[in-house]
Amino acid sequence: MKGVFVTGTDTGVGKTLISTALVRAYAAQGLRVAGLKPVVSGMVAGGLYEDVEALRRASEPPRTVGECALYAFPPAIAPHFAAGQAGCRIDLQAIERFVREQARDVERVVVEGAGGFLVPLTPTAGFADLAAALALPVVLVVGLRLGAINHALLTCEAIGARKLPLAGWVGTWLAPDLAAGTLEGLRDFMPVPCLGIIPYHAPLDPEFAARHLIIP
Ligand SMILES: Nc1ncnc2c1ncn2[C@@H]1O[C@H](COP(=O)(O)OP(=O)(O)OP(=O)(O)O)[C@@H](O)[C@H]1O
Ligand SMILES: [Mg+2]
Repeated sequence: MKGVFVTGTDTGVGKTLISTALVRAYAAQGLRVAGLKPVVSGMVAGGLYEDVEALRRASEPPRTVGECALYAFPPAIAPHFAAGQAGCRIDLQAIERFVREQARDVERVVVEGAGGFLVPLTPTAGFADLAAALALPVVLVVGLRLGAINHALLTCEAIGARKLPLAGWVGTWLAPDLAAGTLEGLRDFMPVPCLGIIPYHAPLDPEFAARHLIIP
């Protein structure tokens, strides 16, 4: 299985933007690629999940909802808690099997986590364990705001502690302005290459983001 696992310094930092951009970039290289969001929470109007819609439609060939997500929880809350409320127990091995199955008919997978790297999925395991089981190189999306250096370095430590390869980090501008020194600090202190900086840009456009990325 070839591809990447996309994690972030936090929820709402641009993981879906970057995951979708990577899916489109692989497709533009002529590769069959699956964008996967194995665990999603936060249903919007029409019974849809935004991350799933973005990833499944960008995939080449496009995928159904069931070929993109294994667990979907309507409330926009932490997945382990949403699972508990739904009376469901998330099975980490089932997620691993799901990803490997979806990877069978494609040349690349792009797997988006939820929230940050240490988000729990069960009382004893979380996305970090899933990433370790999948053994895909990790792409870390860093939401550019004051505090990002600490969040990014902590996440690097957690990824390194699991001996996972970290392909690099991508910075996303979340607002038009950024505290001086934040970007420079990331460039100085992050132990892996920067794969791109996505300028502040609304509306968000994966093709635009892809043009600002080194594709791992
Ligand atoms: N380059 C950018 N320019 C402007 N806004 C951005 C940029 N990158 C990210 N954002 C903002 O970040 C928000 C969240 O993006 P996205 O949904 O990709 O995050 P996420 O990390 O996937 O969130 P989740 O944890 O819910 O999966 C967007 O709605 C947008 O407001
Ligand atoms: Mg997302």
